[in-house]
Amino acid sequence: MAIHNIIEAPDPRLKTISKPVETFDDALKTLVEDMFETMYAANGIGLAAIQIGLPLRLLVIDLQPEDMDAEPEECHSHGGHKHFHRPLKKEPRVFVNPEILDPSEELHSFQEGCLSVPDIYADVERPSACRVRWQDLEGNTHEEDMTDMMAVCIQHEMDHLEGILFIDHLSRLKRNMALKKLEKARKAA
Ligand code: NI
Repeated sequence: MAIHNIIEAPDPRLKTISKPVETFDDALKTLVEDMFETMYAANGIGLAAIQIGLPLRLLVIDLQPEDMDAEPEECHSHGGHKHFHRPLKKEPRVFVNPEILDPSEELHSFQEGCLSVPDIYADVERPSACRVRWQDLEGNTHEEDMTDMMAVCIQHEMDHLEGILFIDHLSRLKRNMALKKLEKARKAA
């Protein structure tokens, strides 16, 4: 397995329209393992193949919910007062050639971020639910109704397949502010 570099805005490769996956072989399985490893290493919950430079209609998502069956553990990550979290549970999901079938009319606003737009967060309004059809690593087709965080995340990731970033949903003013902030952080690093 290998951790890949994640491409960051305003890299023009992120504007690529990705092509369907046509071959369901061991190379695809290895690529998906690499994408999960890359996503977990960057503390992300979703990653599209184009974010590591491959223009394929392929996404990995893991919302990593708290494991409600596990005992809470003391958390040392943000300092301050003593507090406890349940460990996170891995729930890896792979979507090959995903399609959104019927987005709800009801919209929901959610604060989004993206591994390709590091440390920038902004509210984006999207359909609050959608039905998704996709293929698994064997090429079998599935359909499922997505709600809540999964609906947000899959719509965000599917935008990547069309060359769209979440900041493209913002006003030009807010998008330019985000890109400037990103450039400034990059120069400082
Ligand atoms: Ni993203």
